[in-house]
Amino acid sequence: MNSFKVLFTLAFFVCLLERVKLLDNGLARTPPMGWMSWGYYMCGDNCLDQPHKCLDEELILSVVDTFYNDGYQEAGYEYIVIDDCWSERERDSDGRLVPDRNRFPHGMKFISDYIHSKGLKFGMYTNVANITCMHYPGSRGYFGIDAMTFAEWGVDYIKVDGCFVEESFLNTAYIKFGHYLNKTERPIVYSCSWPYYIEFKHNKTPDYSKVSAHCNLWRNYHDVYTSWPSVRDIVNHYKMAYSTLYQHHGPGGWNDPDMLIIGTESLTESQSRIQLSVFAMLSAPLLLSCDMTKITEYERSLLQNLDLIAIAQDPLGIMAQPYELTYFITLWVKKHLPMKGDKYHSFSFALVNLYRRNFTVSFTPGSYGLQSKDGYTVMDVFTGNYLRNITLEDSIIVTVPFEDVILYTLYAL
Ligand code: GLA
Repeated sequence: MNSFKVLFTLAFFVCLLERVKLLDNGLARTPPMGWMSWGYYMCGDNCLDQPHKCLDEELILSVVDTFYNDGYQEAGYEYIVIDDCWSERERDSDGRLVPDRNRFPHGMKFISDYIHSKGLKFGMYTNVANITCMHYPGSRGYFGIDAMTFAEWGVDYIKVDGCFVEESFLNTAYIKFGHYLNKTERPIVYSCSWPYYIEFKHNKTPDYSKVSAHCNLWRNYHDVYTSWPSVRDIVNHYKMAYSTLYQHHGPGGWNDPDMLIIGTESLTESQSRIQLSVFAMLSAPLLLSCDMTKITEYERSLLQNLDLIAIAQDPLGIMAQPYELTYFITLWVKKHLPMKGDKYHSFSFALVNLYRRNFTVSFTPGSYGLQSKDGYTVMDVFTGNYLRNITLEDSIIVTVPFEDVILYTLYAL
C-alpha cells in the first residue's frame, strides 16, 4: 500500500471510531423529557406527617393524568420516573425488590400499565451498592434479578445511582448492570451517576469515553436543590466544564445537569427562563420535578414553548458553547436544525445574566460560525416575534435584565 492509501485507511477507521463511541442501543436519540420525583418530593416516604410530599401511587397516577390532559405529552414530556424510596426495606424470599405495600398497593406493573395506556413511559431508580442513597435495598449482588424485575414491570428508563461504593466497583458495576439490562431484551434508557461519584466522591477524572459507551445519560455534578443559588451554580459549572463535556454528548448519550425545579415556587419567572433556556441550549434532559398541580399559567406556557423545546430536542444534539461577552453576561451559542438547503444551519443565542443588575451588551452573530451571505432572520423565542433581519456584519445591541435571559433563534434567509 502506498502512503496515501495507508493514511486514507487510517482516517477511515478514525472516523468510524468517532461514529461508534456513543452507546447505540437506539434509545434517547434526543435528550429524555419528563418528570422525576426526587427534586421536589425527595424521599417522600413520610406520608403521615407530610402528606403533600408523599411519593405514592396516587401521586404518580396524577402526574400521568396531568401530562396527558394538560399538553405536556404533546410538548414532548414523556418519562415519569420514580426516584429513591419506593421499595420495602426487605427483598422477598426470591430476592426480588418489593414496592412499598402501603404507598404502592397495586405494585409497579399496575403503574407501568397505566403510564403505557396513556402513551407515556415509565422510569425507576436503584443504586449499585447494597443500599440506595436513602438506605433502601440496593442492587449490589442482585444486578441480574433487578434488571429482570424492572423489565418485567415494563420499566423504560432506569436511573442508577452510585452512593457508597469504592471507585473500582463503580468502574465495573455500571458496565455489568448495562449488560444485564441488555440481556432482558427490553429497551431501557440507562441513566448513570458514574462520573459524578468518580469526580466528586473519589476525586478522579471520569473516563467519559467509557461512560458514553455504556450509558444513555449521566449525572456529573451535584444534586439540584429547590433554590436559585443551586440553579446558578449548575449553570456556572456547565460553563466551566464545557470543553470536557461537549465532546461526549450527542444522540444516544447526554450529560445530565439534573432536574428542572420550575414549578416548585423557588424560582422567579426570569430565573425559570434561565434554567429552561440554558438546559435547552445544552441539549440537556428536561426532567421536571414539582407538584404539577402548582405550576402557574406562566410556567406552563414556558415549559410548553415549542420553539424552546425545538432547541432542546434538536436532532443534532449539540451542546451550546459559552462565550464570556463581559464578566457578567455569558453568550451561549448553539447550531441546530432546520437548515436552509443542505448548507446553512439555524443558530440560537442565549444571553444569560446571573446577576442582580441589568446589563446592555452588543454582539455580532456573524462571528459565531454563521455563513449565509443572504443573512438571517431573528426570532425572539419567548414571544415568537420576528424582530429583524441581519447580515453577517450586523451587531445586535440588547439589554439583559437582571437574573434573566434573552433567547434568539436565527434562521438562514
Ligand atoms: C442521589 C442522586 C439524587 C437522588 C438521590 C436519592 O443524591 O443524585 O438525584 O436520586 O440520590 O437518594
